[in-house]
Amino acid sequence: MGWNCFSCVIDQEKQEISQVYKSKDYPWEIYPLKELLHATNNFHNDNKIGEGGFGSVYWGRTTKGTEIAVKRLKTMSAKAEMEFAVEVEILGRVRHKNLLGLRGFYAGGDERLIVYDYMPNHSLITHLHGQLASDCLLDWRRRMSIIIGSAEGLAYLHHEANPHIIHRDIKASNVLLDKEFQAKVADFGFAKLIPEGVSHLTTRVKGTLGYLAPEYAMWGKVSESCDVYSFGVLLLEIISAKKPLEKLPGGVKRDIVQWVTPYVQKGAFDHIADPRLKGKFDQNQLKSTVMIALRCTDSNAENRPSMFEVVDWLKGGVGRRKKETSEVENIVDEEDEDNDTDYEEYRYKIEKSNMRRTRV
Ligand SMILES: Nc1ncnc2c1ncn2[C@@H]1O[C@H](COP(=O)(O)OP(=O)(O)O)[C@@H](O)[C@H]1O
Ligand SMILES: [Mg+2]
Repeated sequence: MGWNCFSCVIDQEKQEISQVYKSKDYPWEIYPLKELLHATNNFHNDNKIGEGGFGSVYWGRTTKGTEIAVKRLKTMSAKAEMEFAVEVEILGRVRHKNLLGLRGFYAGGDERLIVYDYMPNHSLITHLHGQLASDCLLDWRRRMSIIIGSAEGLAYLHHEANPHIIHRDIKASNVLLDKEFQAKVADFGFAKLIPEGVSHLTTRVKGTLGYLAPEYAMWGKVSESCDVYSFGVLLLEIISAKKPLEKLPGGVKRDIVQWVTPYVQKGAFDHIADPRLKGKFDQNQLKSTVMIALRCTDSNAENRPSMFEVVDWLKGGVGRRKKETSEVENIVDEEDEDNDTDYEEYRYKIEKSNMRRTRV
């Protein structure tokens, strides 16, 4: 689905005809507004299941009885319209067991809606830090399967999707869980398609503090390795249930890598595990997963593994697939020039912390 095709689809959609389109053999639907209003009880507050930068997400049930999640754009602006288009464009062209499935969308007037498969076990963040954290539904086995699943979803985006895709906002709230607690990577509003032969892009910085790779936060240099860095932070977060960035007394912020490093140096791996696991975890798996996370969060992007390697290591494999290095050129991405997030303070902190940090 290219850009031209996308806008022509919107025009057709204004006629409110529900149609099923084929994108790379995967069907997605253009929903009539009426159907989505009915499914979500007119976007009733009681149906709200999530809130993000882009808008609110509502639970709904179609007339056929299927549960859906509908993301509703908050305010119409060029920036929001772009995020909507990017998400539909990218999710419409990928299908993987560990990526959230796109069912379709609606675009008409001031309304932009994206329809997904509903994920009954919410996002990882609710289990790690939110309302469901105390229930400890995430035992060690589930945590490992979520880690491996999200690594596979990301490896697919980086190495198998064509063109390759960089997610740019890997974090706990963007990993959803289906009824079997299988991980589904979601939220493609910031994603970038990487043209063949391009090693990295230079863009304005988007994403979330605590998960940003230093070269991205400082210079806007974005490549697959930025997702690898964020994935490393997510790994540590899943294992420890610590937040990626913690405010210490006195206002100083400490990132999760700084927190974990002294424990690794002392070999005190048990201290890293989430206390809610009550010691029920596999010691070897814990140790190797922490070591993989540290490789992923190496401050030098060149030293980080590829997601293919990460999947291999997590599965305990010995095969080492080489990082694809068809380095050619850096592209300056002008589409992103409207971003106004202020990362200066964070850049300064990263520079300081990189000087202090001892790598293992
Ligand atoms: N398919 C879904 N099923 C269940 N909950 C969802 C679904 N999609 C999103 N959510 C919830 O809504 C939140 C925001 O969705 P997200 O796609 O990340 O939007 P944003 O771009 O606004 O961050 C998620 O963190 C999650 O809690
Ligand atoms: Mg999100």
